[in-house]
Amino acid sequence: MGESQRTPRHVGLIMDGNGRWAKKRLMPRGYGHNAGMNRMIGLAERAKERGVQYLTVYTLSTENFSRPKEELEGLYALFRKYFAENVKKLYKKGAAVKVIGDISVLPQDICQLLVDGEKNSPQSAEFTLIFAINYGARSEILRAVRLAKAQKEEIDADGFERLLYTSGIPDPDLIIRTGGEKRLSNFLMYQAAYAELYFSDTLFPDFSDGEFDRALDDFSHRERRFGNV
Ligand code: IPE
Ligand code: IPE
Ligand code: MG
Repeated sequence: MGESQRTPRHVGLIMDGNGRWAKKRLMPRGYGHNAGMNRMIGLAERAKERGVQYLTVYTLSTENFSRPKEELEGLYALFRKYFAENVKKLYKKGAAVKVIGDISVLPQDICQLLVDGEKNSPQSAEFTLIFAINYGARSEILRAVRLAKAQKEEIDADGFERLLYTSGIPDPDLIIRTGGEKRLSNFLMYQAAYAELYFSDTLFPDFSDGEFDRALDDFSHRERRFGNV
């Protein structure tokens, strides 16, 4: 593998295990989400320091959207509390924010926070933090198929990729999942075709910068063949 590929350009992060982390502490699930949110902010900083250009954080899946109302309200409250302030800090460091998923069904103020976060981002950023919110790969692909059908000309793979939420973003090189489960749970299924996968048993709030570094180190030793010999 060439030197330039030793650091993944795009890392996908499935931040799982907040609920179990809280349960172990006899606390409500929201306590775990709060700890997870703080860890995510720290990891975004670490990813940027390590030269990662895109970090996509799986924040809420289309399936999570049917969780109990109290849990969703708790998650929205965390966004209201942390989003604007931390996004400003990111801008100051020249970083951008992007959102993938169907945010139109979120509470209006949350939707606005996300839209503004994206809109006010610096134009050419060295690092982009991408929030996958009410994101599901199946609905993303279906949406792209519908858009493709509505076009007059037949489209090729590049044209199809431009209809995905991730248009213009390189495919993830590395996907990290914390929390012990070994599955994608509807995350970036099209884009992850050749991603390297890294699974950790650590519950997300405990997933340290050091462990993130170990995942990057592990990636740097992988041989990516892309179907070639
Ligand atoms: C991941 O943690 C965060 C979200 C899905 C919002 P979970 O909430 O799934 O935590 P566990 O898997 O129940 O421990
Ligand atoms: C995946 O975690 C979704 C996010 C981390 C946002 P889940 O906890 O929803 O996944 P499953 O249900 O274990 O597959
Ligand atoms: Mg989970």
